[in-house]
Amino acid sequence: MAAGLLLTLFILPITLRPVVSFCPLRASVSIPKQDDALHNDVDQLIREKLGRIASEYENHVEKLKRTLEMEIELSEKTETCLLRGTTNDRAHFLLSEKLRRKRDAMTECLAANDLVVKRLLSGSLDAGKNSQTKTSKLFESIEYISSSDDDYSLLMGNGGVTDQQKKETEGYDTALQVITHTARDWTSGSSPCRDATNGWIIRAILDNCTGMDRIRILVPGSGLCRLAYDIATSSDIAKAGTKACVEANDSSVTMAFAAKSVLDMVQKQAVSKIYPFVSDPLRNEIDSAKRFNVDVFPDEEALASYRYYNMIRGGSPDLTYTVGDFSLTYKSQSKRGLYDVVATAFFVDTATNIYEYIFIMKHLLKDKSSIWVNCGPVQWHPCAMLRPTVDELRDILKASGFELITWEIAPETLAYRHPDDYGALQARYTREEGYRSLRFVARLSTVDAADDLHLRIEYIEYLNEVANGKIKL
Ligand SMILES: C[S@@+](CC[C@H](N)C(=O)[O-])C[C@H]1O[C@@H](n2cnc3c(N)ncnc32)[C@H](O)[C@@H]1O
Repeated sequence: MAAGLLLTLFILPITLRPVVSFCPLRASVSIPKQDDALHNDVDQLIREKLGRIASEYENHVEKLKRTLEMEIELSEKTETCLLRGTTNDRAHFLLSEKLRRKRDAMTECLAANDLVVKRLLSGSLDAGKNSQTKTSKLFESIEYISSSDDDYSLLMGNGGVTDQQKKETEGYDTALQVITHTARDWTSGSSPCRDATNGWIIRAILDNCTGMDRIRILVPGSGLCRLAYDIATSSDIAKAGTKACVEANDSSVTMAFAAKSVLDMVQKQAVSKIYPFVSDPLRNEIDSAKRFNVDVFPDEEALASYRYYNMIRGGSPDLTYTVGDFSLTYKSQSKRGLYDVVATAFFVDTATNIYEYIFIMKHLLKDKSSIWVNCGPVQWHPCAMLRPTVDELRDILKASGFELITWEIAPETLAYRHPDDYGALQARYTREEGYRSLRFVARLSTVDAADDLHLRIEYIEYLNEVANGKIKL
């Protein structure tokens, strides 16, 4: 176990050109009314939600501690019964003894992660001492999208789950997802997983967008924002003489606020400890010490690319973050033909009806030179009502007017979160989890001249509601 378990947060002594905080957050919410009072309501609802999610980690910690206490008691009583009188010189072999040490280490590591969650969701490096000032606005702007649904839990879409009650326990709006995604996106330990996804996507953009001065890129389902950040700061894209203007999007406010906080840390060159594995289930572990492996975020590569960008270009990368359901936010007529590139990683399988995502991509891409780059599995989320296989998806794309420039399944299976989760020489678990990503680059073979595409997309939503029984005919 790493020495000094307590979380440290320190600022590196680097001089950067002074700039205002970057990556403004915008929101796109679906409620029928449009007034100032509602604006305050949205801020208030989001504040309450972030507070709930941050304190949910405390419940998780309590639950884990109770489980360990029970195991300590049971193992101790069992050992007293079965091994009575035989263990005086072998106490260090006993499970109860090991569990006691595990409990103490977990208490420290979980406390450190609790602080990470609170800091990321409060947007303040001082969280724990101060929380976000109640008067400051959470979003730079809020766009209201009229919706027939008055359900406040659907403010920013379903986030991949079907039962809205489970959004904060089984969806992306949870404290554990914040830890997992922060580790995946911003620690050096996870860089091989990112290179296989983000690296592949950036190389595909470079191969297909040569000679362009400026490209506008949308990254739906951005999560903790590393892909969007890597594109925005890519030195290879800059060396090619191209300026990347990147817009991240995600339906989870939890992801967006955590991402914004990490980006603030990048800008301030501040780092913090994180224990990526400490909350993993108490099963399938091979080596008991590995649960307590520590890492640091943001990783040095991320900090260095910010410094490089700041030095070469001055100021911060051109990166914004829009919180809102992808379909609701981007189907609107105002978004038509805005983007040269749409980049998706581990996202397409969040679609309720994949035709809807595909036609929104068509609607968003500027012209026949624009591309959709994708890398990720087809692990359809619980909300999915159509779940095509890879070959079925290929034919849907062709039928929808896309030319497939690249279409392949990744040659190797890779872990999502950390290389040790799959196929590592020194495996972490007796059960492994990895993916063979579907990687493609698609271009429009025809640009749809019809200007009613957004209305047809809207109609798909109606068909989804009929299919899931929300609308009775
Ligand atoms: C598996 S994560 C992938 C995150 C990131 N792209 C990566 O590669 O690590 C899927 C992300 O999609 C987001 N998401 C799910 N449904 C969405 C929707 N309808 N609109 C926008 N984002 C959505 C989730 O909140 C989550 O952050």
